[in-house]
Amino acid sequence: MSKALEGVRILDFTHVQSGPTCTQLLAWFGADVIKVERPGEGDATRGQLRDIPGVDSLYFTMLNHNKRSITIDSKSAGGREVLDRLIQSCDVMVENFAPGALDRMGFTWEHIERLNPRMIVASVKGFGAGPYEHCKVYENVAQCAGGSASTTGFGDGPPMVTGAQIGDSGTGLHLALGILAALYQRTHSGRGQKVLAPMQDAVLNLCRVKLRDQQRLERTHTLHEYPQYPDGRFGEAVPRAGNASGGGQPGSILRCKGWETDANAYIYFITQAAVWPAVCKVIGEEGWITDEAFATAQARLLHLKPIFARIEQWTMSKDKFEAMEILNQYDIPCGPILSMKEIANEPALRASGTVVEVDHPTRGKYLTVGNPIKMSDSPTEVTRSPLLGEHTDEVLTALGYSADEIAGLRADGAV
Ligand code: COA
Repeated sequence: MSKALEGVRILDFTHVQSGPTCTQLLAWFGADVIKVERPGEGDATRGQLRDIPGVDSLYFTMLNHNKRSITIDSKSAGGREVLDRLIQSCDVMVENFAPGALDRMGFTWEHIERLNPRMIVASVKGFGAGPYEHCKVYENVAQCAGGSASTTGFGDGPPMVTGAQIGDSGTGLHLALGILAALYQRTHSGRGQKVLAPMQDAVLNLCRVKLRDQQRLERTHTLHEYPQYPDGRFGEAVPRAGNASGGGQPGSILRCKGWETDANAYIYFITQAAVWPAVCKVIGEEGWITDEAFATAQARLLHLKPIFARIEQWTMSKDKFEAMEILNQYDIPCGPILSMKEIANEPALRASGTVVEVDHPTRGKYLTVGNPIKMSDSPTEVTRSPLLGEHTDEVLTALGYSADEIAGLRADGAV
């Protein structure tokens, strides 16, 4: 069966997390992704957070599936020539070096465009144009600068970063979308273009509901769905909302049976207006269906704390899966708090290919997250990440280098 991006070749000049998540997705859609790494050391993540001495880390293997690896010293003359040839034979170059690094190597947009006018050059940077555009950025910096940290956590606690890698993997997703749009535009323009996804901007895009709330707050000086309402005070900026849903349907994380010993014995419970009578029946408060203080969504906003406290009395009498099963019978939106241990063993995620076991020649079997995007005519088969420079000879040969020339490049330390 063919793949959506079959025939698209990617010069993958990415490292760490943000860029590699982007090119891994493109590889899963069928692109030929050639990862360029520094001879001898490769992507720094190969050696970071290692759990087995001398073996590529899970950090690396889980971000670089389905790719080929070539080592090139981009600062040597021989290495630059190899990269020039790759630029001429690829459709997209993806990079996430520190600002200016690509130019310092000699791969300016003008140079690349001259070699291949159809080339799409896609970059992740920490910030877009502005005072911080020259800064190096990692995940949590982006979460802080993009509005996530100031709006995450509890109202009386410090700003908080989230475990979801919205700065790195979130930006990688944005960049992948930009690349696909540029590939499509190229089908009628015939030209490549630059694609930039700044991490701050990507995080803000994911936090757009908070900018919505900022404007609501400035107009009305209150946010009725936030836990600060009705007893607390609102300042000038959107506060941290704890576990409140923040949307039109109030929700909260509630304890379930076993919470005293199990850190994840919790459920997310949403009091969707449409199922309010069902919620009342389940928890044994039928009187709330008609009681003026609770009967309408607007009235309930004044009493969310006692409402959730009463619902929690009920959830604490059930384990999270029992609660989920009962609530689903009434179409009450809810979800168990799943630990990574539970997710790793979740049969449905295994069956759908979202949690996959992969075999690696030096690591052995390990679990990874497969392609979360399912396409009916472009199935994903997750294959292991490449060893450092595993495909150097193969790629160089395809670029027209003879065995002697390859040996020469190697002797010079260029590959
Ligand atoms: N051959 C020779 N040199 C190479 C090379 C290769 N194959 N690959 C990289 N290098 C060089 C670069 O040219 C650069 O040299 P220079 O500083 O002389 O220009 C040097 O390696 C370091 O690259 P840099 O990108 O600065 O890496 P870093 O480890 O210092 O910083 C980041 C890492 C992530 C902070 C930085 O790359 C960055 O801010 N990237 C953009 C934002 C981003 O993607 N952040 C999230 C990462 S998950």
